[in-house]
Amino acid sequence: MTEHQTVRTERHGDVALIVIDHPPVNAMSVAVRRELAAAIAWVGHEPGVRAAVLACDGRTFVAGADIREFDAPPEQPHLGDVCTALDDCPRPIVAAVHGTALGGGFELALSCNARVLAPDARVGLPETKLGLIPGAGGTQRLPRLAGALTALELIASGRQLSADEAMKLGVVDEIATDLRAAATALARRLADAGHRPRVRDRAVPAVDRTALDTVAAAIRAKARGSLAQGAAVEAIGWALDMPFDEACALERARSRELRVGPQSRALRHLFHAERMANRLPATEQNLHGWAVRQIGVVGGGTMGSGIAVALAEAGFKVTLIEASPEAVHAAEARVAAVWERQAKSGRLTHAGHRERLGRVTYTNDMAALADCDLVIEAIVEDVAAKQAVFRQLSGIVRRDCVLASNTSYIDIDLMADVVDAPERVLGLHFFSPAHVMRLLEVVRAPRTSGEVAATALAVAKRLGKTAVLCRSGEGFIGNRLLMRWRQVCDFALEDGALPHEVDAAMEAYGFAMGYFAVADLAGLDIAWAVRKRLAAARDPHARYVKIADWLCELGRFGQKTGAGYYRHDAGKRLPDPEVTALIERASAEKAIPRQPAAAEIIQQRIHAAMVNEAARALSEGIAHRPSDVDVVLASGYGYPAWRGGPMHEADIIGIPEMLHRVEAMHAAYGAGWEPAPLLREMAAAGKRFADLNF
Ligand code: COA
Repeated sequence: MTEHQTVRTERHGDVALIVIDHPPVNAMSVAVRRELAAAIAWVGHEPGVRAAVLACDGRTFVAGADIREFDAPPEQPHLGDVCTALDDCPRPIVAAVHGTALGGGFELALSCNARVLAPDARVGLPETKLGLIPGAGGTQRLPRLAGALTALELIASGRQLSADEAMKLGVVDEIATDLRAAATALARRLADAGHRPRVRDRAVPAVDRTALDTVAAAIRAKARGSLAQGAAVEAIGWALDMPFDEACALERARSRELRVGPQSRALRHLFHAERMANRLPATEQNLHGWAVRQIGVVGGGTMGSGIAVALAEAGFKVTLIEASPEAVHAAEARVAAVWERQAKSGRLTHAGHRERLGRVTYTNDMAALADCDLVIEAIVEDVAAKQAVFRQLSGIVRRDCVLASNTSYIDIDLMADVVDAPERVLGLHFFSPAHVMRLLEVVRAPRTSGEVAATALAVAKRLGKTAVLCRSGEGFIGNRLLMRWRQVCDFALEDGALPHEVDAAMEAYGFAMGYFAVADLAGLDIAWAVRKRLAAARDPHARYVKIADWLCELGRFGQKTGAGYYRHDAGKRLPDPEVTALIERASAEKAIPRQPAAAEIIQQRIHAAMVNEAARALSEGIAHRPSDVDVVLASGYGYPAWRGGPMHEADIIGIPEMLHRVEAMHAAYGAGWEPAPLLREMAAAGKRFADLNF
C-alpha cells in the first residue's frame, strides 16, 4: 500500500492493483495525474510485481479530463505524459473498465496493454462535444485498433460504444462480469508470456483514402461551423501519414488550441448549464420523488406514440390510450414501426425488440390507467379537450398518480384547475420525435409540489433527457422564444426575402435547419390553431404577417400535405412560385418596398428577438436562469451548441450592444418590440447574463 489521496496501489501476489478513487466520476485532475504517474512508476520497479491492473472505485472508470481545470493553464504531468508512462512501463498493465471510460479515461485504457470491460461498460471519445479533440493520443491509438474510418466516425460524433460493440470493433480484449479478477488473470497471462502489446506499435490498418475523404467531407459539412470535427479529420490524417510521436505532439497542440478557444468555452458553458437546469431550488433539494413503474399515455398520435417509445425504451411499462379501436390500432402501428426500423438496421436485437413490444399495451379504455404512477396527456392542443381528459383521469387514477400534460403552449394551471389534488399536475413538454429529441421542459404550475417535480425529474433522468425546469406561461421557454423569432422570419419575408433565403441565413449561422423548413416538417396547423386561439388577445397595433394563415387556408400544412412554405417533391424541398406570389402580395398590401435580404441582419435580429424575449421570461420567473434558456435552445431548437446558446452569446457580444440591436429592431418592427426592462437595467448596471446564473 502507498500513501494516497486519489490513487492507491495494492499487491495481490505478483499482480499490483492501481485504483483511482476520485469521486464523483474519477476525472483526471492534476492530483490524479500525479499520483497515477507515481503508481505506474512504482509498478515498473517494485520487486516481485510482474504485472498490474488499472481500475477505478465508485460509479465509473475515469470519465475524462477534469473539465473544471480547463480554464486554468495546464499543469504537469499532462494526461499524455501519463499515457506515455503506461506505454513505457516495463510490466504489462491491463485496464479494468466499469461504467463509462470517456475521453481521457478511454485514452488511459487505450494506453494500457489490454482492456477488460464490464458487460454494461461504455467507452468513447466525446471531446468534440466539448469543442476539442482528444489530446492524449486518443486520435492516434483508436484508429490503430478500430481502423481510420471507424475512429473518425466515433471521434467526430463523440458517440459511446457499448462493451459488445467495442469488442466487435477490436477495441477491447474481454468482457467479464468479475471484472478485476478477469483483468488480473489476463495481466498474469501477459506477464507469463513476456508479452507487452502496445497499441502505439500497431500499424493503422490500410484504408480506402477516397472513402475516407468522402466521410471527412460529410463530417465537415454536418459540423456547420463547429471546428472540432474538422480537427478530428486532420488528426486521423496524421495517424495515417506520420510517426506516432510526431502525430501525438500535433494532436496535443491542436487540442490545447481548441480548449482555449471560444467554441470549447461555449460548449463547456452548456455542459455545466445542463447540470444546473434540472436542479430543484435549494429548499427542495432533499425531496424525494415518488416511485414510477407504470406510465399511461393518453393520445397515440406522433407525440404520444413517440413518448410511449421513449418510455418503453427506458424500461417503463406503458399503457397507451386512444379514442377508438381504429385509432388504437394506428397508434400501435406507429410505435411498432419505430422498433421495426431499428431492428432492420441492426440497432435492436431480436430479444430487445420483443422485450420493448411487450412493455406497451394499447386500449381505448381509460379505466386501464387505474394503476398508473404517472399519466402523460398528449392529445390535440385544445384546452377544453385537455380539461376533459384531466377531469376523467382525476376520477380514475390514484391520488398519488402524477398527471402531466405534453402541451407545448397551454398554461398547465388550466389542467390543474379541473382535478382533485392539483399539486400533482405539471407539464412534460417533449419535442418531436419524442424518442429522439433530448430536451424535456418540466413545467411547474403554481400549485405543483416539489415531490411531483422531483418525480418528473427522476423519470427524465431515466429517459436520458436533458430536463429544464421552468414555470408555466404561454409557450414556456422554448416556444415562447420561437413565437418571437418566427415573427422575425415572417417580417423578413414581407421585407423582401424568400423562405429559402431566410433558412439559408439560419443554416449559415449554424442552425441545423432554417425556421421555414422546420415549420414545414412539424406542420403549420398547430401554430395556426395557436394563432387563432390568441387572436382576440393580439395587440391590434402590432405588425401581423398573414402569409402563414394564407398557406393554411390553402391546405398547405407543410411536408405532410406535400406543400407549405416549400413544395415537397420526392423528399426534396423546393421553392414554390405560388408561395412567392403570396409573399409579394403580403408586401404589396402593406406597401412595403421589397429589398434584398442581408443574411447578417436576419441572423442578428433572430438572435436579438430571442434574447429580448428571454429577458422578459426571466423577469417573470418562467425561466429560472439565463443558462436554462441556452440549454433549451441548444438541445431542442437546433441553436448551434458551439455558440453556447443565445444568452451566452449575448454576453460575448455585450449587453449594451444587444440593447442597441433590440432598439433598432423596435424602430423597424414597431409595437410589441420594446426592449425588455431587464435588458435596460443590465446595460445600465454593466451586468452580464452570466451574473444571473446561480
Ligand atoms: N470533469 C469534471 N467533472 C465532471 C466530469 C469531468 N470530465 N464529468 C462529470 N463531472 C461532474 C459533473 O459536473 C457533475 O458534477 P456536479 O454533481 O457538481 O454537478 C458530476 O460529475 C456528475 O456528473 P453527471 O453528468 O451529473 O452524472 P451522470 O452519472 O449523469 O453522468 C458521465 C456521468 C460521466 C457520463 C457524464 O458526467 C459525462 O458525460 N461527463 C463528461 C465526460 C466527458 O466529456 N469527458 C471528456 C472530457 S474532455
